[in-house]
Amino acid sequence: MLTNGTIVLRPPMQGDADAIASAVQASLRDLSRWLPWATPTYNPSDALDWISNRFDATAHSFLILDAAGNVVGTCGLNQIERASLRANLGYWLHSDFTGRGYATMATKLVANHGLSDLGLQRLEIVMSVENEPSRKVAERSGAWHEGIQKKRLQVEGVTHDAHMFSITEPQLD
Ligand SMILES: CC(C)(COP(=O)(O)OP(=O)(O)OC[C@H]1O[C@@H](n2cnc3c(N)ncnc32)[C@H](O)[C@@H]1OP(=O)(O)O)[C@@H](O)C(=O)NCCC(=O)NCCS
Repeated sequence: MLTNGTIVLRPPMQGDADAIASAVQASLRDLSRWLPWATPTYNPSDALDWISNRFDATAHSFLILDAAGNVVGTCGLNQIERASLRANLGYWLHSDFTGRGYATMATKLVANHGLSDLGLQRLEIVMSVENEPSRKVAERSGAWHEGIQKKRLQVEGVTHDAHMFSITEPQLD
């Protein structure tokens, strides 16, 4: 469990499937543009599939809970490469819980966990140049902007240039 006193991050459990599916359904308009799995058919069974694969050698994903215990989103590491001590860091929020800094707080907590507890040396955050909210999360989290990678992402069949950010040192709150 990771916390900064405002939010709590913990691994997802089977009993969270309904809450995750509800959060995705309530947020489709914001999520579906950037996350290909966020579709109108997303359901608790899809959430269960995600839960069963999300805490292994290549992924450490966390639910983000607010002080009231609401599932407000997820944040985690994936594509963990032990050989190069590198991972990708990703996040999404329930649309009702944006604008409160939760994604930024979660990114710092997960980054510190990856760098300090898991011994990773480089965490990458990659987003389309058109995904302004995500770029601002990376910047607010203290990530270093390394540049724009041409034709880095495919989103709904469309090619996007992408910002590449890295976090290589633990971040202060
Ligand atoms: C990307 C995403 C998580 C950003 O959500 P967000 O709410 O804008 O980000 P945060 O939770 O960090 O909140 C930041 C906002 O809260 C405000 N805020 C309030 N209290 C704050 C605090 N204590 N700390 C930081 N920011 C705070 C900030 O000023 C900022 O407001 P602004 O958007 O007007 O600049 C969200 O838009 C999303 O889920 N998008 C779809 C999925 C996606 O694109 N994921 C990333 C793929 S690369």
